[in-house]
Amino acid sequence: MKKHRLSIIPGDGVGVEVVPEGLRAIRAAGDVTGSYSIETVDFPWSCEYYAKHGRMMDDDALDRMRDTAAIYLGAIGFPGVPDHVSLWNMLLPIRQKFDLYINLRPIKLLPGINGPLRDRTPEQIDFVCIRENTEGEYCGVGGRLRAGTPDEVVMQTAIFTRKGTERVVRYAFDLAMKRKKTLVSGTKSNALNYSMVFWDEVVAEVAKEYPEVSVQNQHVDALAARMVLNPQQLDVVVASNLFGDILTDLGGALQGSLGLPASGNIDPTGKNPSLFEPVHGSAPGRAGKGTANPMAAIIAAAMMMETLGEHEGAQLINDGVAHVAMNGPKTMDLGGDAKTKDVGAAVEAYIRSRK
Ligand code: IPM
Ligand code: MN
Repeated sequence: MKKHRLSIIPGDGVGVEVVPEGLRAIRAAGDVTGSYSIETVDFPWSCEYYAKHGRMMDDDALDRMRDTAAIYLGAIGFPGVPDHVSLWNMLLPIRQKFDLYINLRPIKLLPGINGPLRDRTPEQIDFVCIRENTEGEYCGVGGRLRAGTPDEVVMQTAIFTRKGTERVVRYAFDLAMKRKKTLVSGTKSNALNYSMVFWDEVVAEVAKEYPEVSVQNQHVDALAARMVLNPQQLDVVVASNLFGDILTDLGGALQGSLGLPASGNIDPTGKNPSLFEPVHGSAPGRAGKGTANPMAAIIAAAMMMETLGEHEGAQLINDGVAHVAMNGPKTMDLGGDAKTKDVGAAVEAYIRSRK
Protein backbone atom coordinates (compact mmCIF):
# COMPACT_ATOMS: atom_id res chain seq x y z
CA MET A 1 0.00 0.00 0.00
CA LYS A 2 1.31 3.40 -0.96
CA LYS A 3 1.55 6.31 1.43
CA HIS A 4 1.03 9.80 0.01
CA ARG A 5 2.43 12.73 2.00
CA LEU A 6 0.26 15.77 1.38
CA SER A 7 0.84 19.43 2.24
CA ILE A 8 -2.37 20.83 3.67
CA ILE A 9 -3.07 24.58 3.70
CA PRO A 10 -6.65 25.24 4.82
CA GLY A 11 -5.96 29.01 4.62
CA ASP A 12 -8.76 31.46 5.33
CA GLY A 13 -12.52 31.73 5.62
CA VAL A 14 -14.50 28.83 4.27
CA GLY A 15 -11.25 27.19 3.15
CA VAL A 16 -10.82 26.00 6.73
CA GLU A 17 -14.32 24.51 6.66
CA VAL A 18 -14.16 22.63 3.36
CA VAL A 19 -10.65 21.13 3.52
CA PRO A 20 -11.51 18.59 6.26
CA GLU A 21 -14.40 17.34 4.12
CA GLY A 22 -12.05 16.71 1.19
CA LEU A 23 -9.63 14.90 3.48
CA ARG A 24 -12.28 12.57 4.86
CA ALA A 25 -13.28 11.64 1.30
CA ILE A 26 -9.63 10.94 0.43
CA ARG A 27 -9.17 8.78 3.52
CA ALA A 28 -12.40 6.88 2.92
CA ALA A 29 -11.46 6.15 -0.70
CA GLY A 30 -8.05 4.94 0.45
CA ASP A 31 -9.67 2.59 2.96
CA VAL A 32 -12.13 1.22 0.42
CA THR A 33 -9.63 0.67 -2.40
CA GLY A 34 -6.90 -0.51 -0.04
CA SER A 35 -4.49 1.14 -2.43
CA TYR A 36 -3.13 4.03 -0.36
CA SER A 37 -3.05 5.88 2.91
CA ILE A 38 -2.18 9.52 3.43
CA GLU A 39 0.04 11.44 5.80
CA THR A 40 -0.76 15.14 6.12
CA VAL A 41 1.77 17.90 6.74
CA ASP A 42 -0.32 20.79 8.05
CA PHE A 43 0.60 24.40 7.41
CA PRO A 44 -1.16 27.30 9.16
CA TRP A 45 -0.31 29.87 6.48
CA SER A 46 -3.16 32.34 6.09
CA CYS A 47 -4.17 35.96 6.67
CA GLU A 48 -4.45 35.16 10.37
CA TYR A 49 -0.86 33.94 10.26
CA TYR A 50 0.06 37.21 8.53
CA ALA A 51 -1.57 39.23 11.30
CA LYS A 52 0.49 37.35 13.91
CA HIS A 53 3.81 36.92 12.14
CA GLY A 54 3.88 39.58 9.43
CA ARG A 55 4.14 37.05 6.62
CA MET A 56 1.67 34.88 4.75
CA MET A 57 3.98 31.89 4.78
CA ASP A 58 7.44 31.09 6.07
CA ASP A 59 10.55 31.83 4.02
CA ASP A 60 11.29 28.14 3.67
CA ALA A 61 7.67 27.30 2.78
CA LEU A 62 8.46 25.99 -0.69
CA ASP A 63 11.32 23.86 0.56
CA ARG A 64 9.09 22.31 3.18
CA MET A 65 6.44 21.43 0.63
CA ARG A 66 8.79 20.37 -2.13
CA ASP A 67 9.13 16.75 -1.09
CA THR A 68 5.43 16.23 -0.46
CA ALA A 69 3.41 14.55 -3.17
CA ALA A 70 0.88 17.36 -3.63
CA ILE A 71 -0.57 20.45 -1.99
CA TYR A 72 -4.22 20.70 -0.95
CA LEU A 73 -5.36 24.28 -0.42
CA GLY A 74 -8.64 25.71 0.88
CA ALA A 75 -8.75 29.42 0.07
CA ILE A 76 -6.70 32.54 0.72
CA GLY A 77 -7.89 36.04 1.60
CA PHE A 78 -9.52 37.78 4.53
CA PRO A 79 -10.49 41.37 5.34
CA GLY A 80 -7.64 43.11 7.13
CA VAL A 81 -5.05 42.00 4.58
CA PRO A 82 -5.46 43.49 1.09
CA ASP A 83 -6.17 40.69 -1.41
CA HIS A 84 -3.24 41.57 -3.62
CA VAL A 85 -0.93 41.26 -0.61
CA SER A 86 -2.24 37.88 0.57
CA LEU A 87 -2.33 36.42 -2.94
CA TRP A 88 1.05 37.77 -4.03
CA ASN A 89 2.65 36.35 -0.90
CA MET A 90 1.17 32.90 -1.14
CA LEU A 91 -0.88 31.40 -3.96
CA LEU A 92 0.64 33.26 -6.90
CA PRO A 93 4.28 32.68 -5.88
CA ILE A 94 3.53 28.99 -5.30
CA ARG A 95 2.09 28.74 -8.83
CA GLN A 96 5.11 30.54 -10.29
CA LYS A 97 7.96 29.11 -8.23
CA PHE A 98 6.75 25.52 -8.51
CA ASP A 99 6.13 26.21 -12.20
CA LEU A 100 2.57 24.90 -12.00
CA TYR A 101 1.97 26.02 -15.54
CA ILE A 102 -1.30 24.22 -16.15
CA ASN A 103 -4.47 25.27 -14.44
CA LEU A 104 -6.91 22.49 -15.20
CA ARG A 105 -10.54 23.42 -14.64
CA PRO A 106 -13.26 20.97 -15.59
CA ILE A 107 -16.68 22.52 -16.14
CA LYS A 108 -19.36 19.93 -15.71
CA LEU A 109 -23.02 20.18 -14.88
CA LEU A 110 -23.75 17.35 -12.46
CA PRO A 111 -27.00 15.40 -12.72
CA GLY A 112 -29.29 16.56 -9.94
CA ILE A 113 -28.05 20.15 -9.98
CA ASN A 114 -30.19 22.91 -11.45
CA GLY A 115 -27.90 25.02 -13.61
CA PRO A 116 -28.94 28.53 -14.60
CA LEU A 117 -29.30 27.58 -18.28
CA ARG A 118 -32.82 26.48 -19.01
CA ASP A 119 -33.02 23.18 -20.95
CA ARG A 120 -29.29 22.37 -20.77
CA THR A 121 -28.54 18.82 -19.69
CA PRO A 122 -25.38 17.49 -18.02
CA GLU A 123 -24.36 15.98 -21.40
CA GLN A 124 -24.33 19.48 -22.87
CA ILE A 125 -22.17 21.15 -20.25
CA ASP A 126 -19.05 19.06 -19.97
CA PHE A 127 -15.79 20.65 -20.99
CA VAL A 128 -12.36 21.45 -19.63
CA CYS A 129 -10.61 24.79 -19.52
CA ILE A 130 -6.82 24.79 -19.61
CA ARG A 131 -5.64 28.08 -18.20
CA GLU A 132 -2.02 29.22 -18.46
CA ASN A 133 -0.93 29.61 -14.86
CA THR A 134 2.52 31.17 -14.53
CA GLU A 135 2.83 34.20 -16.80
CA GLY A 136 0.72 36.35 -19.14
CA GLU A 137 -1.31 38.99 -17.39
CA TYR A 138 -0.36 37.51 -14.00
CA CYS A 139 3.41 37.85 -14.33
CA GLY A 140 3.42 40.56 -11.69
CA VAL A 141 5.59 42.98 -13.68
CA GLY A 142 4.81 46.66 -13.43
CA GLY A 143 5.01 49.62 -11.15
CA ARG A 144 3.56 52.90 -9.99
CA LEU A 145 5.29 56.20 -10.39
CA ARG A 146 4.38 59.39 -8.51
CA ALA A 147 1.70 57.43 -6.69
CA GLY A 148 -1.27 59.40 -5.48
CA THR A 149 -0.36 62.54 -7.40
CA PRO A 150 -2.12 63.97 -10.45
CA ASP A 151 0.93 62.88 -12.45
CA GLU A 152 0.61 59.26 -11.43
CA VAL A 153 1.70 56.64 -13.97
CA VAL A 154 0.79 52.98 -13.59
CA MET A 155 2.04 50.03 -15.61
CA GLN A 156 0.97 46.40 -15.45
CA THR A 157 2.71 44.40 -18.11
CA ALA A 158 1.67 41.07 -19.56
CA ILE A 159 4.48 38.74 -20.55
CA PHE A 160 4.11 35.87 -22.99
CA THR A 161 7.11 33.66 -23.61
CA ARG A 162 7.42 31.19 -26.43
CA LYS A 163 8.24 28.39 -24.02
CA GLY A 164 5.38 29.29 -21.68
CA THR A 165 2.84 29.57 -24.46
CA GLU A 166 3.95 26.47 -26.35
CA ARG A 167 3.80 24.21 -23.34
CA VAL A 168 0.29 25.16 -22.29
CA VAL A 169 -0.98 24.95 -25.86
CA ARG A 170 0.66 21.56 -26.34
CA TYR A 171 -0.90 20.29 -23.12
CA ALA A 172 -4.31 21.38 -24.41
CA PHE A 173 -3.77 19.56 -27.71
CA ASP A 174 -2.70 16.42 -25.84
CA LEU A 175 -5.87 16.58 -23.78
CA ALA A 176 -7.96 17.17 -26.91
CA MET A 177 -6.45 13.99 -28.41
CA LYS A 178 -7.70 12.04 -25.39
CA ARG A 179 -11.16 13.59 -25.61
CA LYS A 180 -13.16 14.69 -28.64
CA LYS A 181 -10.26 16.03 -30.76
CA THR A 182 -11.56 19.57 -30.79
CA LEU A 183 -9.88 22.58 -29.27
CA VAL A 184 -11.00 26.17 -28.89
CA SER A 185 -8.29 28.73 -28.18
CA GLY A 186 -9.41 31.90 -26.41
CA THR A 187 -7.74 34.90 -28.02
CA LYS A 188 -8.13 38.63 -28.52
CA SER A 189 -5.74 39.17 -31.40
CA ASN A 190 -7.93 41.86 -32.91
CA ALA A 191 -7.10 44.27 -30.09
CA LEU A 192 -3.98 42.77 -28.45
CA ASN A 193 -1.84 43.07 -31.52
CA TYR A 194 1.37 41.71 -29.98
CA SER A 195 0.56 39.20 -27.27
CA MET A 196 -2.49 37.55 -28.76
CA VAL A 197 -1.24 37.62 -32.35
CA PHE A 198 1.77 35.73 -30.99
CA TRP A 199 -0.53 33.38 -29.04
CA ASP A 200 -2.45 32.56 -32.24
CA GLU A 201 0.82 31.92 -34.12
CA VAL A 202 1.95 29.47 -31.46
CA VAL A 203 -1.42 27.70 -31.59
CA ALA A 204 -1.08 27.39 -35.39
CA GLU A 205 2.47 26.04 -35.11
CA VAL A 206 1.64 23.45 -32.45
CA ALA A 207 -1.50 22.48 -34.38
CA LYS A 208 0.73 21.09 -37.14
CA GLU A 209 1.82 18.35 -34.72
CA TYR A 210 -1.82 17.39 -34.16
CA PRO A 211 -3.43 17.08 -37.60
CA GLU A 212 -6.33 15.09 -36.11
CA VAL A 213 -7.42 17.90 -33.82
CA SER A 214 -9.73 20.51 -35.22
CA VAL A 215 -8.80 23.83 -33.68
CA GLN A 216 -10.67 27.08 -33.64
CA ASN A 217 -9.50 30.50 -32.46
CA GLN A 218 -12.21 32.54 -30.85
CA HIS A 219 -12.04 35.98 -29.31
CA VAL A 220 -12.53 35.63 -25.62
CA ASP A 221 -15.52 37.97 -25.49
CA ALA A 222 -17.35 35.89 -28.08
CA LEU A 223 -16.20 32.73 -26.33
CA ALA A 224 -17.81 33.94 -23.11
CA ALA A 225 -21.10 34.36 -24.96
CA ARG A 226 -20.70 30.94 -26.56
CA MET A 227 -20.22 29.30 -23.16
CA VAL A 228 -23.71 30.50 -22.31
CA LEU A 229 -25.41 30.07 -25.69
CA ASN A 230 -23.78 26.88 -26.98
CA PRO A 231 -21.77 25.16 -24.24
CA GLN A 232 -22.38 21.80 -25.94
CA GLN A 233 -19.95 22.88 -28.70
CA LEU A 234 -17.05 23.07 -26.26
CA ASP A 235 -14.83 20.22 -25.16
CA VAL A 236 -11.32 21.57 -24.51
CA VAL A 237 -10.65 25.30 -24.20
CA VAL A 238 -7.20 26.85 -23.78
CA ALA A 239 -6.67 30.42 -22.67
CA SER A 240 -4.18 32.81 -21.13
CA ASN A 241 -3.99 33.34 -17.38
CA LEU A 242 -6.49 36.19 -17.02
CA PHE A 243 -8.81 35.06 -19.80
CA GLY A 244 -8.93 31.59 -18.26
CA ASP A 245 -9.58 33.08 -14.84
CA ILE A 246 -12.61 34.98 -16.08
CA LEU A 247 -13.98 32.17 -18.23
CA THR A 248 -13.79 29.66 -15.39
CA ASP A 249 -15.88 31.75 -13.00
CA LEU A 250 -18.45 31.87 -15.77
CA GLY A 251 -17.96 28.12 -16.05
CA GLY A 252 -18.61 27.76 -12.34
CA ALA A 253 -21.84 29.67 -12.75
CA LEU A 254 -22.85 27.27 -15.56
CA GLN A 255 -22.30 24.42 -13.12
CA GLY A 256 -25.03 25.83 -10.94
CA SER A 257 -22.93 27.15 -8.07
CA LEU A 258 -19.47 28.50 -7.37
CA GLY A 259 -19.45 25.85 -4.68
CA LEU A 260 -18.77 23.23 -7.36
CA PRO A 261 -15.82 24.05 -9.67
CA ALA A 262 -12.41 22.64 -8.76
CA SER A 263 -8.98 23.48 -9.96
CA GLY A 264 -5.69 21.64 -10.42
CA ASN A 265 -2.54 23.77 -10.59
CA ILE A 266 -0.27 21.26 -12.23
CA ASP A 267 3.39 20.82 -13.04
CA PRO A 268 3.07 18.12 -15.69
CA THR A 269 6.79 17.31 -15.44
CA GLY A 270 6.16 16.04 -11.91
CA LYS A 271 9.26 17.85 -10.65
CA ASN A 272 7.27 19.91 -8.17
CA PRO A 273 4.16 19.13 -6.15
CA SER A 274 0.97 20.18 -7.90
CA LEU A 275 -1.61 22.20 -5.98
CA PHE A 276 -5.33 21.45 -5.85
CA GLU A 277 -8.01 23.84 -4.65
CA PRO A 278 -11.64 24.79 -5.06
CA VAL A 279 -12.08 27.69 -7.51
CA HIS A 280 -14.17 29.62 -5.01
CA GLY A 281 -12.45 31.98 -2.63
CA SER A 282 -12.52 32.30 1.14
CA ALA A 283 -16.01 33.91 1.13
CA PRO A 284 -15.44 35.86 4.37
CA GLY A 285 -19.11 36.85 4.58
CA ARG A 286 -20.13 33.21 4.76
CA ALA A 287 -17.28 31.93 6.84
CA GLY A 288 -17.74 30.59 10.35
CA LYS A 289 -21.26 29.37 9.79
CA GLY A 290 -20.46 25.87 8.57
CA THR A 291 -22.74 26.29 5.58
CA ALA A 292 -20.24 26.42 2.71
CA ASN A 293 -20.55 23.82 -0.03
CA PRO A 294 -17.57 21.43 0.29
CA MET A 295 -18.16 19.82 -3.11
CA ALA A 296 -15.62 21.94 -5.01
CA ALA A 297 -12.99 21.04 -2.43
CA ILE A 298 -13.97 17.37 -2.57
CA ILE A 299 -13.79 17.34 -6.39
CA ALA A 300 -10.37 19.04 -6.11
CA ALA A 301 -9.36 16.21 -3.77
CA ALA A 302 -10.41 13.70 -6.43
CA MET A 303 -8.32 15.54 -9.04
CA MET A 304 -5.36 15.38 -6.68
CA MET A 305 -5.70 11.62 -6.15
CA GLU A 306 -6.11 11.13 -9.91
CA THR A 307 -2.87 13.03 -10.49
CA LEU A 308 -1.19 10.85 -7.87
CA GLY A 309 -2.19 7.78 -9.88
CA GLU A 310 -5.06 6.71 -7.61
CA HIS A 311 -7.58 6.33 -10.42
CA GLU A 312 -9.94 4.05 -8.54
CA GLY A 313 -9.89 6.26 -5.45
CA ALA A 314 -10.50 9.39 -7.52
CA GLN A 315 -13.40 7.73 -9.28
CA LEU A 316 -14.94 6.72 -5.96
CA ILE A 317 -14.71 10.27 -4.64
CA ASN A 318 -16.29 11.66 -7.82
CA ASP A 319 -19.01 9.01 -7.62
CA GLY A 320 -19.67 10.07 -4.04
CA VAL A 321 -20.08 13.70 -5.09
CA ALA A 322 -22.33 12.70 -8.00
CA HIS A 323 -24.46 10.59 -5.67
CA VAL A 324 -24.90 13.44 -3.19
CA ALA A 325 -25.57 15.96 -5.99
CA MET A 326 -28.44 13.71 -7.05
CA ASN A 327 -29.80 12.63 -3.68
CA GLY A 328 -28.75 15.36 -1.29
CA PRO A 329 -28.12 16.62 1.25
CA LYS A 330 -27.52 20.02 -0.33
CA THR A 331 -26.04 23.21 1.06
CA MET A 332 -27.65 26.62 0.82
CA ASP A 333 -26.05 27.57 -2.52
CA LEU A 334 -27.86 24.60 -4.08
CA GLY A 335 -31.17 25.42 -2.45
CA GLY A 336 -30.85 23.14 0.58
CA ASP A 337 -30.19 23.76 4.24
CA ALA A 338 -27.52 21.16 4.94
CA LYS A 339 -24.30 22.03 6.71
CA THR A 340 -20.84 21.64 5.20
CA LYS A 341 -20.25 18.62 7.42
CA ASP A 342 -23.52 16.93 6.42
CA VAL A 343 -22.46 16.96 2.79
CA GLY A 344 -18.97 15.71 3.64
CA ALA A 345 -20.46 12.94 5.78
CA ALA A 346 -22.84 11.90 2.98
CA VAL A 347 -20.00 11.72 0.44
CA GLU A 348 -17.93 9.68 2.88
CA ALA A 349 -20.85 7.36 3.63
CA TYR A 350 -21.38 6.71 -0.07
CA ILE A 351 -17.68 5.97 -0.61
CA ARG A 352 -17.59 3.56 2.34
CA SER A 353 -20.75 1.85 1.10
CA ARG A 354 -18.81 0.79 -2.01
CA LYS A 355 -16.56 -1.57 -0.06
C1 IPM B 1 -8.53 31.75 -9.07
C2 IPM B 1 -8.57 32.97 -8.21
C3 IPM B 1 -7.18 33.61 -8.16
C4 IPM B 1 -6.76 33.92 -9.57
C5 IPM B 1 -7.08 34.83 -7.28
C6 IPM B 1 -7.50 34.53 -5.88
C7 IPM B 1 -5.71 35.46 -7.34
O1 IPM B 1 -9.51 33.89 -8.68
O2 IPM B 1 -7.81 30.82 -8.72
O3 IPM B 1 -9.23 31.73 -10.09
O4 IPM B 1 -7.15 34.96 -10.11
O5 IPM B 1 -6.04 33.12 -10.16
MN1 MN C 1 -10.61 33.18 -10.41
